[in-house]
Amino acid sequence: MSIPVRFDNVSKSFKTGESATALRDLIPSLVRRLRGADPDARKLFWALRDVSFEVAEGEVLGFVGRNGAGKSTTLKLVAGILRQNKGTVEVNGSLSALIEVGAGFHPDLTGRENIFMNGAVLGLSRRDIRARFDDIVAFAELEEFIDTPVKRYSSGMYMRLGFAVAVHVDPAILLIDEVLAVGDLAFRRKCLERVKLLRAAGKTILFVSHKMNDVRAICDRVMYVKDGLIHREGTALDVTREFEADMKRRSALEITGAPLSQRTDNAAVRVMHVEARDSSGAPVTELHSGQSLIIHAAIESDIELLDPILSVALLRSDNLRACCATTRVLGPRIPRVRGACTFEVEFDDLDLMDDFYAIETIVWNAEMNVPLAQHLNPTIRFIDERPPVNRPGVFHPAARFGAIEHGPDLES
Ligand SMILES: Nc1ncnc2c1ncn2[C@@H]1O[C@H](COP(=O)(O)OP(=O)(O)O)[C@@H](O)[C@H]1O
Ligand SMILES: [Mg+2]
Repeated sequence: MSIPVRFDNVSKSFKTGESATALRDLIPSLVRRLRGADPDARKLFWALRDVSFEVAEGEVLGFVGRNGAGKSTTLKLVAGILRQNKGTVEVNGSLSALIEVGAGFHPDLTGRENIFMNGAVLGLSRRDIRARFDDIVAFAELEEFIDTPVKRYSSGMYMRLGFAVAVHVDPAILLIDEVLAVGDLAFRRKCLERVKLLRAAGKTILFVSHKMNDVRAICDRVMYVKDGLIHREGTALDVTREFEADMKRRSALEITGAPLSQRTDNAAVRVMHVEARDSSGAPVTELHSGQSLIIHAAIESDIELLDPILSVALLRSDNLRACCATTRVLGPRIPRVRGACTFEVEFDDLDLMDDFYAIETIVWNAEMNVPLAQHLNPTIRFIDERPPVNRPGVFHPAARFGAIEHGPDLES
C-alpha cells in the first residue's frame, strides 16, 4: 500500500518584496547590476523549513496555526501549485484541492460550463460529469444560478460550487484550506457532514481551519504549524487545545505588555509587586478551575493616603473583567496608608473557564473615582480538564437541573 502524501525534509522559500511586473520595478536590480552587486538581493524568506510528515490512507489530517505559519504553502505543495526548493513531496492518488475560493473557475463561464471544465481538469469524462451534474448542482444549491457566469457569484456561491465539484469527482485525496469559512453556517455543517462521509469511505483528507470545533469534529490527527515548522503533532483534542492556549497567552501578553506596567502618572503611589499564590501560599502561574487563588500585593506611598480603596480584578485574555474584589464592598476600611505595606485577597473556589487571566491591582482614592496606582501583572492560567464543549460564559456555576416534568400527552 502506498502512502497518499509524504513530505521528506521539504523546504519552500519565497523572495520577499514584489516580483517585477513593470519596467519601473526592474530599475533597482538594474542599478545593483551596474554597481556590480547581486542583481537580485531580495531576501529569501523560508515559508517552510525541513518539514517531514506522512498522511496515511483514510486519515483526516488537520493543520492549525497562526496566519502566515505555512499551512497553505504546505497544501499548495501537495497540490503541485507550488514547487519546493528542497526535499521531496510524494503524492499517490487522484487529488482534488479546495485551496482558494474561486480558484480553478473561469469568471466568464457559467456555473454549468465551469462544472464541465473543472471535472475535465480533474480527470472525469463528459459522461462521468453528466452523470454527476445534477448531484453537484443540488449539493451546491445553485439550481437557479447554474447558467449565470460565475463572475456574478458571491464568495459563498463560489465556495459552494467548488466544494460540490471537489467532493463529487470522487478523489482519493482531498485538500480543504479554510474555504468553508466563507459559507453560511448551514452549508458549513453540510460540508462537514460530507467530509465525515468521505472519511468513512476511506478518503485521505488534509484540512486547514481556524475553527477548532470543526478541526476536533473531523480530524484524526492535527499538526500545529508555527513559523514554517511543525511545532506539535498529536490528537485533535491535544493539539487544538495547545494552539488555543497559545493564542490566549498571546492576547493576554498584549494586554499586560511590559512585565511591570505602572499605568498612572502619580508616582507618589505605587504598586510594587503582585504575586499569585495557591491556597497553601505557594506562588503559582497556573491553577485548575475550581481552586482558590490568593493575590499578595505590595504597595508604597510617599504621601499619606486617607481611606484608600484597594481592588483586585482578573482580566481574561479577551479583556473581559471576569471578576473583581474591592475593599469598598468587602472591607476592611483602611484609615490611612503611608510608606510600604502589603495586603492579600483570597478568591475562593474560582471555577473560571479555561483561559489566561491578568491580575489588575488598583489603589483608589476614598471615593473610588481616581486610580492612584494601577498595576496589571502577573498573568495566571486556569486549566479546565473538562471537555471543551459549547459552554459560553465566564465561570462554571454550581448548578443542578431538577426533575423533568412531562406534559400530559407524554405521560404513559
Ligand atoms: N507567493 C508568495 N510570495 C511570497 N511570500 C509568500 C507567498 N505565499 C506565501 N508567502 C509567505 O509565506 C508564509 C506562509 O504563508 P501561508 O502558507 O499562506 O500561511 P498560512 O496559510 O499558514 O496562513 C507567509 O509569511 C506568506 O507571506
Ligand atoms: Mg492560509
